[in-house]
This record gives sequence, C-alpha cells and structure tokens, in this order.
Amino acid sequence: MATLVQVENLRKEFGNVRALDGVSFRVDAGEWIAIMGPSGSGKTTLINILGGLDTPTAGQAIVDGTDVARLDEAGLTRFRAEKIGFIFQQFHLVPYLTAVENVMLAQYFHSTTDEKEAQQALERVGLGDRIEHLPSQLSGGEQQRVAVARALINHPKLILADEPTGNLDEANEEIVLSLLRELHAEGHTILMVTHAPPIGRLADRRIEFAHGRLVRPAAALKPELA
Ligand SMILES: Nc1ncnc2c1ncn2[C@@H]1O[C@H](COP(=O)(O)OP(=O)(O)O)[C@@H](O)[C@H]1O
Ligand SMILES: [Mg+2]
Repeated sequence: MATLVQVENLRKEFGNVRALDGVSFRVDAGEWIAIMGPSGSGKTTLINILGGLDTPTAGQAIVDGTDVARLDEAGLTRFRAEKIGFIFQQFHLVPYLTAVENVMLAQYFHSTTDEKEAQQALERVGLGDRIEHLPSQLSGGEQQRVAVARALINHPKLILADEPTGNLDEANEEIVLSLLRELHAEGHTILMVTHAPPIGRLADRRIEFAHGRLVRPAAALKPELA
C-alpha cells in the first residue's frame, strides 16, 4: 500500500500552548482513519496543518509526496484545491452563494466551473431539489451535505473531516456517515475527527490524541497492531 499521509514529529505551539507535541503517524492510500481524543487535544490543529490552513512550528506533514509547510501561498492554494476535500463542523459555506454556486466555487479554484457537474454532485448528496437555495434557507444537515458535495467535486486524494456530524441531528448524521462510507468504498482516503466512539468504529483505524500527543504511538505507525 502506498503511503498518502506521513506525519513526522509534528509540533505546533500557540504562544506557550503546545497544541501538537511531537506527533508521528502514517496513513495508507484508501484508509479511513478516525482521529479521536478529548477537546483541546490537538485534533483540529493537525487537520489544519495537513490541509495547509496552518503551519507547524516543527516537524513535517507530507501529503501525497508534498511537504505542505514548504509551499508558498500560490502553492498552498493549488494544493488545497487539487488534493484536499474539507468538511468542517461549522459547514463554512459562503452565505451569499447558492448551493450550486458554493460547489462551483471549489471547481473555480481547481480549474474551470461546470454547473452540470456541480448539480450532479448535489443530486448525489440528495439535494437535487435545493440547488438554488442559499445556506440560510437550508437546514444544518442540508448545509453539511452541500459541504460534502463541495469536498468531492474535485476528486481530492484526501478528505479531511473535522467533526463532520458534530452539529447534526441523528437523521442527518446517518446521511453524512453513509456518504463517507460510500466515499471510502470508492477508495478515497479519509481522516475524520470525532469524539463519538460509535462513529470512530466505522473507520478502519483509530488514532487517539491526548494533550497534543498520540496515546498509542506504535498503533499509529503499524496498522496491524491497531
Ligand atoms: N489559534 C490558536 N491560538 C491559540 N491557541 C490555540 C489556537 N488554536 C488552538 N489553540 C489551542 O491548542 C490546543 C489544541 O486545540 P485544537 O487543535 O483545536 O483541539 P481539538 O480540535 O482537539 O479540540 C487547545 O489548547 C487550544 O486552545
Ligand atoms: Mg477541534
């Protein structure tokens, strides 16, 4: 199996807070990993560094052969557009764009927009009848499904999902999780932050954080021990 994500001795300090305190692990292409651990343990910081939204204080985060911290602003924009699909707890849709325009914005950053393809992505997440709705006209679950469509539209190598069901009711949680299951079955690599053990058990492997460190470092490096 090819390694898609390689994290080596990653550190991140915010002033005197050590958000990540020497984290190392690898993820093979096609794996679904659950990042677990209590609030404040560094999970979001890790996701942000892997996605090029933040930079480490020390150590390396290599995604698909790219050392993310070495990219300049233009390189980061291209990296995010081409390799990463983000799903955030707070959806982060652009409020004045319709559902289909939010998906097309991701296409725009990647290459060229294709409204038909963006509509098909929304149909796939069950929102074929909400294409022209603004985020404020959608429920939380529907907004998160738009975000999933946006995350998929460029066929990213890596899907980074930070508590993707943290703000959803049970029915929408089930819809988003079954979409993640489908993506995994199609061969996508998924790093999903959750603190819900039943959701963590859907993943192939769990990596557990406490105080910016891995709880069982060996398991993170050797899938057969996890
Ligand atoms: N931008 C920031 N500035 C200062 N401290 C931060 C910042 N982001 C995160 N932290 C701190 O880093 C630690 C890890 O945060 P985070 O990665 O968000 O944890 P988690 O996602 O596991 O809840 C926390 O103590 C948090 O307060
Ligand atoms: Mg977090």
